[in-house]
Amino acid sequence: MRTPIIAGNWKMHKTVSQAVELCRKLEAALQDSPVEVVVCPPFTALSAAFALGMSKVKLGAQNMYAADKGAYTGEISPVMLKDVGCQYVILGHSERRQYFKEDDEFVAEKAAKAFEYGIKPIICVGESLEQRRAGQTTEIVVTQTKGALAKITPDQISDVVIAYEPIWAIGTGENATGADANEVIGTIRATIAELFGQDKADQVRIQYGGSVKPENIAEFMHQPEIDGALVGGASLSADDFIKIVQYK
Ligand code: PGA
Repeated sequence: MRTPIIAGNWKMHKTVSQAVELCRKLEAALQDSPVEVVVCPPFTALSAAFALGMSKVKLGAQNMYAADKGAYTGEISPVMLKDVGCQYVILGHSERRQYFKEDDEFVAEKAAKAFEYGIKPIICVGESLEQRRAGQTTEIVVTQTKGALAKITPDQISDVVIAYEPIWAIGTGENATGADANEVIGTIRATIAELFGQDKADQVRIQYGGSVKPENIAEFMHQPEIDGALVGGASLSADDFIKIVQYK
């Protein structure tokens, strides 16, 4: 049985005080949830969120660099993330790939580096609208999955989380259907099985992401292949994110 995992990707939103307020509300409301709950505030708010000593809500970062330390102006290392209580890190988000030119090889390096510090990667894959229309969805997600997992060992794979996020569904209000997402996620799991064997693949949690809201979360969570969600916009509101985690 895979424990469902729902993560909030706050992107470039929330000051320190706003982040603390949101974390407090989530921690108070979600204590009894069977779902693993993760929030990924901006770097600047991680330390204050960690200082709250939350027991239910886990912390993740939105990105990191693939080195322990050094002359990499503007970057953040896994050592620093560990120091502020991060248990997860989102890697290869489509916004990183699009605006910051990150490729699968770079994502693979980061994922391997995260594991050196016991930080679990949430690796994002997904096709653009153009690619979907051209019938390339499978090819794209298989290539991205294989590329990002290139340096992951058989011991590590069950701690990897994959987020399938069709780019055309991110922040657009236009979500994939549960059945569609389930099918692509099944393909991702089959790819992991090809690389690591079926037993391992059955342990990997794969989320759906892209315009997840309180109104559509259940449709995704009731699909057999979907183990959770990566939530952007709706994770910025305590009420909405609580409703999402408490889906029925
Ligand atoms: P969205 O973003 O929920 O606002 O569509 C999802 C994501 O980018 O992770």
